[in-house]
Amino acid sequence: MSRNTIPDLYEKYDAGEPLTMLTAYDAPIARQVDRGGVDMILVGDSAGDNHLGYDDTLPVTLEEALSNTAAVVRGTEESFVVADLPFLTYGTSMEESVRNAGRFLKEANADAVKLETAPYGETTIEIVDRLTELGIPVQGHVGLTPQRKNEIGGAYVQGRDTGTSSPGEALVETAQRLEEAGAFSIVLETVSEGVAREVTEAVDVPTIGIGSGRYVDGQVLVVSDVLGLGAEPYSLSKQYADLDAEIRRAVERYVGEVESGDFPTRDNAFDPVDED
Ligand code: KIV
Repeated sequence: MSRNTIPDLYEKYDAGEPLTMLTAYDAPIARQVDRGGVDMILVGDSAGDNHLGYDDTLPVTLEEALSNTAAVVRGTEESFVVADLPFLTYGTSMEESVRNAGRFLKEANADAVKLETAPYGETTIEIVDRLTELGIPVQGHVGLTPQRKNEIGGAYVQGRDTGTSSPGEALVETAQRLEEAGAFSIVLETVSEGVAREVTEAVDVPTIGIGSGRYVDGQVLVVSDVLGLGAEPYSLSKQYADLDAEIRRAVERYVGEVESGDFPTRDNAFDPVDED
C-alpha cells in the first residue's frame, strides 16, 4: 500500500465522499489511526495540551513539532501526513517561514504543512502563496485559530455576526484568498454550521471541519478526545473509547500483581531457578 497523495484526496472529494482526518503525535497511536483507515493525519500543535503537557498550543517549539511529525510518519503507511506549523515559526519573515516549513518535508517527511490564518490575514496568505509555489503543499485553517487565543479571548464560535473575531463574510473571503494562494484544503474550526456551509460552497478545495457541523467536505477530530485519552470531554467532539480507564485498570493490575508476587512467574524468567 502506498501513501495517499493530494490527487487521491481530490478523487474522493470529487466523488462527493467525506474525507477523514484525525490528529496523532506519536508513532504507536499514529499506527492505529493509519491502520484504522483515515485519509489524513494531522500532527497538530494541539500536541501542546494533548501530548506535551502544556496548557495550550503556544509553547510548542519547532523542534518538538518536527520530532512528533517524524515519529508519526515513521508509524504510518497510507495516511497523508499534515504537520502543523507552531506559533511564530511562520509569519516573522518570509525567509524564516519558508525555511521552517521546508524542514517538515525535508527532515520529518511530512506530506504538507498547515498554518492558521486570521480574518483577511495578508501575511499568512502571502506565505501560503510562496510555500505552494515552492512545492510545499499547505492546508489552510480559519475560524477559531487557537494560536490567536490571547487576541480572540476564548474558544468562541466563529462566523456569527456579533461577538466573533471572524464574521461569516470574512471567513468566506479569507478561505477564497487561501484557495487562490494555492491551499489544497482548508480546516474550519468551531464555525457556525451555516457559515461553514457557505465557505464550503464558495471554494473548490475540500473544507475539513472540526466543531463546524455537517456541511463540510470532511471532518477532523483531536485523537485524545476520540480515544478518551487525557482529554476533557468536548461537546462538539465525540468520544469512541475510554483509554484513560483502560490504562488505569491495566496499571492498577500490574501494581497489584507485583505487590502480591503474582508477577513475575516462572514463565517470565530466563533460565528459571526451581525451588527445592
Ligand atoms: O492542532 C490541531 O489539532 C488542529 C485541529 C484542531 C484542526 O489544528
